[in-house]
Amino acid sequence: MCGIIGYIGDRDVSEVVIEGLTRLEYRGYDSAGVAILNDNGIDIRKRPGKLNILKADLKKNPIKGHIGLGHTRWATHGIPNEQNAHPHTDCKKNIVLVHNGIIENYQMLKDGLTKRGHAFRSQTDTEVIAHLIEENYKGNLEEAVRISVKELKGAYAIAVLHKDEPDKIVAARCESPLIVGIGQSEYFVASDIPAILKYTNKVIFINNYEIVSIDKKGVRVIDYSNQPIKKKAVCVDWDITQAEKGGYDHFMLKEIHEQPDLISNILNTRVRGNRIHFDELRIKDTILKKIDKIFIVACGTAYHAGLNGKYMIEWLAQVPTLVDTSSEFRYRNPIVGKNTLVVVISQSGETADTLAALRESKKKGAKVLGVVNVLGSSISREADGVIYTHAGPEIAVASTKAYTAQLAILYLFSLYLAGLREKRTPYKIAGYLKELKKAPGHIKKMLEQYGDAKKSDLKHKARIFNREYHKRLKDYYQRDSEGRKRAPNCCFLFLGRNVNYPSALEGALKLKEISYISAEGYPAGEMKHGPIALIDENPWTICIVPESSLHEKMISNIMEIKSRGGIVVAIATEGDEEIRKVGVDYIIDIPRIEQTLTPFLVAIPLQLLAYFVAREFGEDIDQPRNLAKSVTVE
Ligand code: M6R
Repeated sequence: MCGIIGYIGDRDVSEVVIEGLTRLEYRGYDSAGVAILNDNGIDIRKRPGKLNILKADLKKNPIKGHIGLGHTRWATHGIPNEQNAHPHTDCKKNIVLVHNGIIENYQMLKDGLTKRGHAFRSQTDTEVIAHLIEENYKGNLEEAVRISVKELKGAYAIAVLHKDEPDKIVAARCESPLIVGIGQSEYFVASDIPAILKYTNKVIFINNYEIVSIDKKGVRVIDYSNQPIKKKAVCVDWDITQAEKGGYDHFMLKEIHEQPDLISNILNTRVRGNRIHFDELRIKDTILKKIDKIFIVACGTAYHAGLNGKYMIEWLAQVPTLVDTSSEFRYRNPIVGKNTLVVVISQSGETADTLAALRESKKKGAKVLGVVNVLGSSISREADGVIYTHAGPEIAVASTKAYTAQLAILYLFSLYLAGLREKRTPYKIAGYLKELKKAPGHIKKMLEQYGDAKKSDLKHKARIFNREYHKRLKDYYQRDSEGRKRAPNCCFLFLGRNVNYPSALEGALKLKEISYISAEGYPAGEMKHGPIALIDENPWTICIVPESSLHEKMISNIMEIKSRGGIVVAIATEGDEEIRKVGVDYIIDIPRIEQTLTPFLVAIPLQLLAYFVAREFGEDIDQPRNLAKSVTVE
C-alpha cells in the first residue's frame, strides 16, 4: 500500500525519485521521504502529509546525488508523522531502507533487537528490518539482506542502501510488488511500472523470495539460498502520457473520459470477424467446456464488475456462477473442486485478499483465471490463465475505466463460453457483439453531454445537492411535526434491478469513497425490507431505470419513494415518457441499448455524479482520505 523507488545512474536522483513518487502516490499519501547517498553520506529528508510538502522542501533545499531511495506511505504501524515516515535507518545511520508491506513478527524481532542494544526511533514495523540488516552486515549488503529477510514474516518489498557500498541498491520481495527498470547505464527498482515510465519501459518482474542488486553495471537476481536466477526483461506497452492528467483537473475525470476508446480497443483486439480471442488465456477450451461451476472473487469495484459477470455468464453461457468478496472467500472453505473455474478480478493484480483467494482455489484443485489490468502483476503470474483488461494505468484511487473494461471482458468471456458450450449459436453471438459495439459511441455521446466540467448538467445537480446538504447540516437536529428531535438523513440510496443492481452498488461506492457522504446500493426489490425507512424529504434516491423487462417494477419502486416525499434522480433511457409522468425530481437520460448492456452506459453518469459532488464539496478526488489504490495488506 506504500510506494517505493530506488535509482542509480547519472541523473539527479532527487528528480528521478520525486518523479517516481508522484506516479506512486496513489498507493498511499500519509507521508513521503527520500534518502540520497552522496559525498556527505546519507542525507534523509521526510515529511508527513502529501508529497507536495516534501517536493517544496527539496526545491528550497535540494539534495544532490546519483543514488537514492524514495517512499510514499500508507500508514499501518504508527501515526503518519515524520518519525514514522520512511526511509528508516539502523542505529548508526549507515543503512537506509524503504518498505512496502507489513512485518507480522516485528514485535518479537523488535524485542530481541532491543535486548541486544538496538535503539528504535519510530513505531513502525519497518525499522526492525534496518536493525536486522545492521546485525547481519559483514561488509556485503546483498548477503546481509539475504540473511535478514529469512527472519521476516509478512509481506514486503524493500530497497536498501549502505553508506559503505555507495554504488549499490539491494531490494527483496515477498508478497508485495517489485519491479526493476532498465535504462541506458541506469537502473531503477520500484513498486509499480508508472514510477519509471518516464525513463524506460524495459522491465524485469521480481518474484517472491528473490533478491535483486542493482549497480551501474547491471542487475543481479538471486534466491534466498543464494542461487543466481536468470531473468528476462520485457518491454511494456504503457507510455508516460497515460500516467499524466492530460489537461484534465483530475485523473478520475481523465480516466472517465478514456472509457469509449478503451472499450473500442478491447473490442477491436478481442473480436476478429465474429470470433472472440483471448490469446493469453492459458486454460484450454477442453477444460472450460467441462467446468460445472464458476466462482467470481474480487474486492471493491472489481467485485461489483464480478456481480455483473454472474448475470452475464448465467444468462449467456448457463454455467452456475457464485460471486464472493475475496476476504470472505479465502477464510470460509468454499466448495471448490477440479471442475470449478475461479475467476479472480483485480485492476492492480496485487490485492492481498484476492491473491490469497487465488492460492486457496489452486490448492483445492480449481483452475484460476485472472482478469487483471496490470501487466506482470502477481495475480497475472500466479493464475492458471489470464485475460488482461488493457485499460492502461489507472491512477485515481476511485476505479472507473478499469470497471467498464472488466465489464467488457466479462461480457466477451460469457459469449466465448456460450459459444464453446453451444449455448448460443454463432449467429446469436454475432448479434450480441453487434449490439456491444454500440456501447463506445453511446458513452462518447454521454461524455459530451455530461462530462464537461465547465457546463455539465450533473455539475448543476451536484451543486443543488451540496446546498441542500449543508442546509440540513446547519439545521442539525430538527424537531418533527410532533416535536421529536430528529437527525437529518443525508444518505444517498442507489437502487437498481438485475444487471443494474451491481451498478447501484458501484454508484454508491464511488460516491462514498470520494465525497465521504454515506451512500448505500440496494436491489430495488429489497427496498421494502428495510431501506424504505430512510425515505423522507431528505435523502436523494438514485433510481437506475433504463428500458428493460423490469422497468415497470422500478416505476413502482419510484412511486413508493415519491409517495413518502423522497427526492428521486432517475437514470432512464432517452424518450422514456413514463418516467416523466411519475414526477421524479431529476432525470439523467442515457441512450437506448439492449438491456443487458445498460450497465456500460449507466456507469458514466454514476461516476460523473460522484465526481461532481466531491468536486462541489472541495474534496481531494484523486486521493481520498484513508484509501490507497492497491491494498496489498489484509
Ligand atoms: O486492484 P483491485 O481491483 O484488486 O482493487 C480492488 C479494490 O480495492 C478497488 O476496486 C477499490 O474498491 C477502489 N477504490 C474502488 O474505486
